[in-house]
Amino acid sequence: MYKKKIIVIHGVNLNLLGIREKEIYGGFTYDEINNLIKNYADEYNFDLRIFQSNYEGDIVEEIHAAYKEGIDYIVMNPGAFTHYSIAIRDAIASVKIPTIEVHISNVHKREEFREKSVIAPVCEGQITGFGYYSYIMALNYIKIKEID
Ligand code: DQA
Repeated sequence: MYKKKIIVIHGVNLNLLGIREKEIYGGFTYDEINNLIKNYADEYNFDLRIFQSNYEGDIVEEIHAAYKEGIDYIVMNPGAFTHYSIAIRDAIASVKIPTIEVHISNVHKREEFREKSVIAPVCEGQITGFGYYSYIMALNYIKIKEID
């Protein structure tokens, strides 16, 4: 059976999960969160890989690579790039791969500058504020959508 191909893209500073502002992002480390994501992906029978970069251009390149690879869905937490990266937004709009924007914290409950996502208008939707479970909810969405 064909397995849906998914890439999870973590943006800037997300490699510091478990170290950075635990009161906001929780105590799970970057590796622990990735393991949880992979466990769910196996359970849902997804072909999933994970990419992280602190460089905007690398993320743009990864989105282009996803297009060439025939990736079915992107699950992306762009980190602070969310709020200003027109380059990442344009890359998503260019490849037209359905993308789900996720955030660990609730970006609407924090500083005003986090309210604005330049990425959201080119995404299927935004999942924000559920801790690492935001990523799992995105996988859940894909699973449910694929059954329909
Ligand atoms: C974040 C929210 C962003 O505002 C912030 O810059 C991050 C993490 C989140 O997952 O809650 O780096 O994307």
